[in-house]
Amino acid sequence: MKAFGVQVAGTGSYAPARILSNADLERMVETSDEWITTRTGIRERHIAAPDEATSDMATQAGRRALEAAGMTAADLDLIIVPTLTPDHPFPNTACYVQKKLGVPRIPCFGMEAACSGFLYALEIGASLVRTGAHRNVLIAAAEKLSAFTDYSDRNTCVLFGDGAGAVVLRPVPAGEDRFMASAIGAEGAHTDLLHIPAGGSAQPITHERLDQGLHFIKMEGREVFKLAVPAMVDAATAVLTEAGISSEQVRWLIPHQANTRIIDAVGKRLGLGEDRVYVNIARYGNTSAASIPLALDEVVRKGLVQRGEYVLMVAFGGGLTWGATLIRW
Ligand code: UT7
Repeated sequence: MKAFGVQVAGTGSYAPARILSNADLERMVETSDEWITTRTGIRERHIAAPDEATSDMATQAGRRALEAAGMTAADLDLIIVPTLTPDHPFPNTACYVQKKLGVPRIPCFGMEAACSGFLYALEIGASLVRTGAHRNVLIAAAEKLSAFTDYSDRNTCVLFGDGAGAVVLRPVPAGEDRFMASAIGAEGAHTDLLHIPAGGSAQPITHERLDQGLHFIKMEGREVFKLAVPAMVDAATAVLTEAGISSEQVRWLIPHQANTRIIDAVGKRLGLGEDRVYVNIARYGNTSAASIPLALDEVVRKGLVQRGEYVLMVAFGGGLTWGATLIRW
């Protein structure tokens, strides 16, 4: 049912002040700036303060998105926080964001689809706006991955950073819909390639599991890499086909920022040159669910996208999950 169209009314982002550079990591594990930049494209990442939680970052990004939308928190009627690093197992992180924004009595939920979380949330949020069930929806994706990263494991600690990115969705007349197409998917056969083994109900925290570091992110990087490129290309192609848009018409591909080699391969296979693929991984590393909205906010605030231009977002991550969304700005 399509009672309304959907538009991104405003974007916002936030990155914590502290920066962890490749040179800093060289002093922590056996690695080199040369290895990290050539294999991943990452030069530095932001790290949250010890007392700064995921909800603090989501709230900052959310405030900026509201301001850009010309709204206040009182205008919201739903908050969704996609994250794999919630403040607590429960209550859900969106309730903390609600408290910090000071907006009473609206529904709030957190959700987890790892690095694809923002695009999962966009599909859900846009669908709810489209039916008329909710009007102004804040999606504030945030991650404090540093809290779940083993800084003695060079396979993972060079990759991840903290940050947040947010959008406010609002209804527009059905004929002016800006959400062209969306596709999300998952393949649970690959749950163990990228995960945090302990801390949930399957493996509750014990002293033994803590000693083994099972509460940290584990990744089979090479295997994930191989699956990422085709999944992202397939999802992106599916939404372009559904919308009847060719890749030449896309102004910006905003991919999940996990690795420049993955981004380059996806851009190439979609026939999009470097001038149409937005990459900011050098400054943030992989911020999981936050990476796409953080990049989108940069594109918007730099004035790089004009009204009517097509923006294609595509993600891939733990689950394994993936997603793609095409919007007309
Ligand atoms: O965001 C969710 C989705 N995640 C992804 O999409 C990530 C996908 N995977 C990747 O981006 C890449 O696989 C990594 C960046 C994680 C790793 O790059 P790679 O080219 O696949 O390297 P590798 O894991 O095959 O390791 C190559 C070598 C190994 O040494 P040997 O066995 O060849 O002697 C590693 O031990 O590089 C070594 N290595 C490192 N060396 C220096 C691994 N990490 C490091 C490091 N510094 N930080």
